[in-house]
Amino acid sequence: MTAFRTLDQADVKGKRVLVRLDLNVPTENGKVTDVTRIERAAPTITELAGKGAKVILLSHFGRPKAGPDPKFSLAPVAAAVAEVIGKPVGFAGDCIGPVAEKAIAAMQPGDVLCLENTRFYKEEEKNDPAFVDKLAALGDIWVNDAFSAAHRAHASTEGLGHKLPAYAGRSMQAELEALTKALEAPQRPVAAVVGGAKISGKLDLLGNLLDKVDVLIIGGGMANTFLAAQGKAVGKSLCEKDLIPTANEILAKAKANGKEIVLPVDAVVAEKFEAKAPSKVVDVDHVGPNDMILDIGPRSIEHVVSVLGRLKTLLWNGPFGAFEIEPFDTGTVEVAEAAAELTAAGKLVTVAGGGDTVSALNQAGAADRFTYISTAGGAFLEWLEGKALPGVEILRAK
Ligand code: 3PG
Ligand code: MG
Repeated sequence: MTAFRTLDQADVKGKRVLVRLDLNVPTENGKVTDVTRIERAAPTITELAGKGAKVILLSHFGRPKAGPDPKFSLAPVAAAVAEVIGKPVGFAGDCIGPVAEKAIAAMQPGDVLCLENTRFYKEEEKNDPAFVDKLAALGDIWVNDAFSAAHRAHASTEGLGHKLPAYAGRSMQAELEALTKALEAPQRPVAAVVGGAKISGKLDLLGNLLDKVDVLIIGGGMANTFLAAQGKAVGKSLCEKDLIPTANEILAKAKANGKEIVLPVDAVVAEKFEAKAPSKVVDVDHVGPNDMILDIGPRSIEHVVSVLGRLKTLLWNGPFGAFEIEPFDTGTVEVAEAAAELTAAGKLVTVAGGGDTVSALNQAGAADRFTYISTAGGAFLEWLEGKALPGVEILRAK
């Protein structure tokens, strides 16, 4: 693996350091409701400020359509950053031009300043060279600490790396180290749990994982398509009939390469998709015509847990069942608990990511015992798919 330049190599004292964070955090009525991404960014901010840098924060926030829009201002997020790092954070109402220049000129070493939403300029997402130059003019060094936005080749996530000395921040570094350890050079046997509704969205993922892991554990709605591929009736369950040939190809490829695919052996079925809908456990060979598979059953849980017992590394993306409604979260919760226990006992390295996945693992009370939880949704998936992430590639030491 090519190494990444990190803050260990950066001389930042007295320098203007442009730090790209992912401050795209959930808010409600102008208040940040989940500070996880800010907490992950805090070590980089604090370290740079402590080393006497002028720390200038850059981020996008939401997907504003046409120019500046108060709904998408980073001002309330900057206030939340100040709270998390326990230190004042200045705010400039523009990310380029005189407003930003003036605020930066007033900074002392160790100060932290947040610039307004980079997506207030459409040139950001276009990675427009003239816009990159305007951003670059504000700093001496660029630190990218936004792994969760690294699948975007935007001006502030990629373009700046062509203009300024570029370094990975501590959170980016931690993401790269954890993901590399889990996928590129894992302790074997390594398995991946892939859940979620559809195969169609995760075809590249399944293909790449099959090359890299020893065991693929398939859950969620996409397992139904695999069951159907094996000729089983799935009743009214979510099932992508047109992808049955694809599912068969994946099963055949696994077999040819000596890889193990773990599918449910029993299921929790209901006739309605709603919380506490009357449900029963059936063998996967006995799903009725009106049944909807909403979770894996107890024998499947037991089987998956026994597989975990012989692994050294586990990657996790996607829930096993309809975890957002009770009691169909049981499969996800119980497997997550087993994975967390093995991790806490030092027997398993567990790495999870993806939007839904992290909420499911939090709901299961397991996330804090996992080895590493990525803050990334789309970027985590693209990494698992084996795609190069522009915001990561630009940081590779040349
Ligand atoms: C995210 O929250 O997924 C990242 O911040 C990327 O945001 P985007 O999907 O709007 O580019
Ligand atoms: Mg996204």
